[in-house]
Amino acid sequence: TYVIAQPCVGVKDGSCVQVCPVDCIHPAPGEPGFDESPQLYIDPLECIDCHSCAQACPVDAALPEEDLPPEWMSSLEVNAAFFTEK
Ligand code: SF4
Ligand code: F3S
Repeated sequence: TYVIAQPCVGVKDGSCVQVCPVDCIHPAPGEPGFDESPQLYIDPLECIDCHSCAQACPVDAALPEEDLPPEWMSSLEVNAAFFTEK
């Protein structure tokens, strides 16, 4: 799965949402919406690893989980947590 990491925080360019073919990039459920969410998150159960979000993101915040640098590994659980508790 792809994961949105630290560089998205405060940037939230949103290009990734436009290009995702399965529409699996969202503000966190429970946060009121795009404007209030500190970053966006990828639903790991929906992501089809198409790489479109990574290509679209201007700050390279969307990465395949295997390419996450150690300091951003926490993003893996952070992204997943919002969707697996449903
Ligand atoms: Fe969506 Fe593709 Fe990015 Fe997965 S890799 S979140 S399917 S754009
Ligand atoms: Fe964030 Fe990049 Fe998408 S900054 S909202 S991951 S295009």
